[in-house]
Amino acid sequence: MTRDVCLLWFHSSLRFGFACYAAGNMSSISVPPPKCLQKPLTVPYRHMFGPGPSNVPSRILEAGVNPVIGHMHPEIFEIMNDIKSGIQYMFQTQNKMTLAVSGTGHSAMECAIFNAVEPGDSVLVAVNGIWGERAAEMAERIGARVNTIVAPPGGCFTIEEMEKALSKHRPVLLFVAHGESSTGVLHPLDGIGQLCHKYNCLFLVDSVASIGGAPVYMDQQEIDILYTGSQKVLNAPPGTAPISFSERACQKIFSRRTKPVSFYLDLSWLANYWGCDGKPSRVYHHTGPVTAFYSLRESLSVLVEEGLENSWERHLKVAEYFHAGLESMGLKLFVKEKRLRLPTVTTIVAPYGYDWKEITSYIMKTHNLEISGGLRPSVGLVLRVGLMGCNSSRENVDMVLAALKDALKHCHKSKV
Ligand SMILES: *Cc1c(COP(=O)(O)O)cnc(C)c1O
Ligand SMILES: *[C@@H]1O[C@H](CO)[C@@H](O)[C@H](O)[C@H]1NC(C)=O
Ligand SMILES: *[C@@H]1O[C@H](CO)[C@@H](O)[C@H](O)[C@H]1NC(C)=O
Repeated sequence: MTRDVCLLWFHSSLRFGFACYAAGNMSSISVPPPKCLQKPLTVPYRHMFGPGPSNVPSRILEAGVNPVIGHMHPEIFEIMNDIKSGIQYMFQTQNKMTLAVSGTGHSAMECAIFNAVEPGDSVLVAVNGIWGERAAEMAERIGARVNTIVAPPGGCFTIEEMEKALSKHRPVLLFVAHGESSTGVLHPLDGIGQLCHKYNCLFLVDSVASIGGAPVYMDQQEIDILYTGSQKVLNAPPGTAPISFSERACQKIFSRRTKPVSFYLDLSWLANYWGCDGKPSRVYHHTGPVTAFYSLRESLSVLVEEGLENSWERHLKVAEYFHAGLESMGLKLFVKEKRLRLPTVTTIVAPYGYDWKEITSYIMKTHNLEISGGLRPSVGLVLRVGLMGCNSSRENVDMVLAALKDALKHCHKSKV
């Protein structure tokens, strides 16, 4: 039966093939070469002042055009070792288990959760924006028992609230977003790590939007897993995600009863590829994106040259200058308490009577400048402006303020 059908298909496709040849069409392919790819690539320049990616300075961009060599060549291992040292500096950690995941911030998020959590484990997620929501979803997907504590957009959690939830749910892992880029909140970290360890829980921190632009001390603050992305404060192209694991985290991960659900993100494989496991030889796991490593290394070099503390100070000063400028224009900041404002991503209360989408598209069209609206729980509530890494400067603040003034003058205001 099946064979008859196949034969019939074979005959008819042969006949179809002959028909094509007979018509003088000698090509065996049915999908013609696309016209669009016969035109040259064009990419516009844009001021990238949204919550990411940020502008990539030419120095970092140029590092990425070095020749591709093998991902297992000794020169690449040396570059990877340099990256490791740079991440240890940026994270302020001595952790041996420090590397960059081949992927964006989300891949590091999954690397952290997929390795540290086993099916049935209890996980606690502090949700005050989209990143907590996503972390909870990732843990749910691998069969964890997930509990959340939820704060309204713009809010955060006290140590007492954290302790209450830790003692109630007894999780193996607590997730906190240090820089909640959807709401513009910088979550205080002091004391949470110590609290987690009192309850035998690992402390996982998302610092994708904050690290390099606001103080984080991984070892001192007893953070067990910390990750970030390349395209925010580091000003490198998207595609690599620094991550580090404490000794305590490694103990749990390497005594798992089950294998992590992802082969690609399995820490035992990644640890070997990054030379973190002390084994004399490295085994092929995946092809490291070597050109992305070049750019990441250069971006870490830039941070080392400026100095971490200088970078924190610059981001803070520029943010304060920006916030004062916004207030003097009559705009309101979404995060009321000054010390809770993320210096890298500012959330502005969506101006009353305006359509926020009209403002962001006007600014893009007229000023060639990206700022963005809210994300998930903050949609419609805010405008978001990211000034990260090299883009955190007074000149850029003036540029954004001028663009906003212009937009408020020219965008449609409803009579309310
Ligand atoms: C941007 C961002 C991420 C996600 O990073 P991708 O590189 O887009 O995957 C995660 N967490 C925070 C806080 C972010 O700002
Ligand atoms: C040849 O045939 C294919 C499939 O029918 C068609 O898509 C293609 O355009 C033809 N090419 C020419 C040069 O006629
Ligand atoms: C950041 O912002 C400006 C404006 O987009 C851009 O021209 C520049 O490349 C960035 N700054 C630096 C120092 O690279």
